[in-house]
Amino acid sequence: METYRITLEWNDGRTESIKSEPDETVIEAAERAGVALPFGCLTGACATCTARLLDGRIEHRREPRALKPRHREDGYVLACVAEPRSDCRLRVGSDVHGELVSNPWR
Ligand code: FES
Repeated sequence: METYRITLEWNDGRTESIKSEPDETVIEAAERAGVALPFGCLTGACATCTARLLDGRIEHRREPRALKPRHREDGYVLACVAEPRSDCRLRVGSDVHGELVSNPWR
């Protein structure tokens, strides 16, 4: 296993570049780098940590139960169980989770 560069992008234009250690999830790598990302259960069940993979490859360390198959097809990942398998670029922030839920008032 190798270390990879993870580029995090927020909707407001902010970006951070962090490194993942082998077998580390995106959330773990961000925590170690002192970058705050939203999370809740850390087990793939709540979707609070939802991010969107823009580039690169990740594998979920365990079943991302909080994501529907169509969300996974659209490139959404759960950062708490997502381990990079290449350098990657992810859109992050609390608003990404909101994109999964259809809003009947919108
Ligand atoms: S923190 Fe709950 S699914 Fe990632």
